Amino acid sequence: MNPLERYLPLVDDPDAFLAACDRPLPSVVRVNGIKATRDRVTDALEAEGVTFEPVDWHDELFRLPDRSPGTNWPYFHGWLHGQEEVSVLPGLALDPEPGERVWDACAAPGSKTTQLADAMDDEGTIVANDSNLGRLSALRHNTERLGITNAAVTNQDARNFSLKPLAFDEFDRSLVDVPCSCEGTCRKNPDVLDEWTLGHVEQIAGIQKSILTRAVQATKPGGTVVYSTCTFAPEENEAVLDHVLDAEDCELVEFDLPLETRPGVTEWEDESFDESVRKAHRVYPHHNDTGGFFCAKLRVGGEVSA
Ligand SMILES: C[S@@+](CC[C@H](N)C(=O)[O-])C[C@H]1O[C@@H](n2cnc3c(N)ncnc32)[C@H](O)[C@@H]1O
Repeated sequence: MNPLERYLPLVDDPDAFLAACDRPLPSVVRVNGIKATRDRVTDALEAEGVTFEPVDWHDELFRLPDRSPGTNWPYFHGWLHGQEEVSVLPGLALDPEPGERVWDACAAPGSKTTQLADAMDDEGTIVANDSNLGRLSALRHNTERLGITNAAVTNQDARNFSLKPLAFDEFDRSLVDVPCSCEGTCRKNPDVLDEWTLGHVEQIAGIQKSILTRAVQATKPGGTVVYSTCTFAPEENEAVLDHVLDAEDCELVEFDLPLETRPGVTEWEDESFDESVRKAHRVYPHHNDTGGFFCAKLRVGGEVSA
């Protein structure tokens, strides 16, 4: 069975959903504001004869209909980074400011770390963590190519991340872009659907709950945590939020995204979730011609110091 059929009861137009999931996704690149401007990038792409189309909801994104992102010299100079449209959403939701302390709990290969550094004007500190050393070398390569100097790299299991090696003991904001069953990436990599098992969804959901819990604990009272996945599975999305709302002092907050989305679901199979999970955003491929995605924003509770 195609695992996507599980989600047909959740979508408004099942045929359009399945058809969109079956279409390949064009490559997308993001302008790296630390090294270049939008005009400089468009001039360079034109000079090299690369066809590009602006993405209508984001000034710094371009679709490359005929090319993969890493095959042009503006990319090698670090003016561009290949990043899917939906992958930009958690960084927009986190909205970090220059000078802040930000934890990127599952950071490799660094698409979102580098976007956050750009949003922070390369000022402050991003602790870019990942448990996979091989993927961290790709992150280091990307941060160097893009000229980022405010990212420190750590190689810990985020479930029991220790702040002891750091010069501070809490973050202003944390991004929790967890490992997941990746169904929403099927337009780029259809193999994810052949490899899908319910056992994997259930196993990874446990890891997701522990990582999100640790991020809430490591973020200051009043701080922001953004949770994201590229899966449609409520077990990995709303159920994870529901668990953390129960276990930790935090709440979900409303936020806007510049794409058409649907609210989080409060019921799935035999489960029901806290009503506030409706504040999360589900992104379905047929609404914006993108990959699939899920994104939620939390505010950490506790006493806010003056
Ligand atoms: C969805 S990917 C992250 C993509 C990344 N945020 C980006 O934008 O490029 C999930 C990452 O979680 C990492 N990971 C898996 N289990 C982890 C754990 N327990 N602690 C920290 N990282 C983990 C994986 O190695 C993988 O790189």
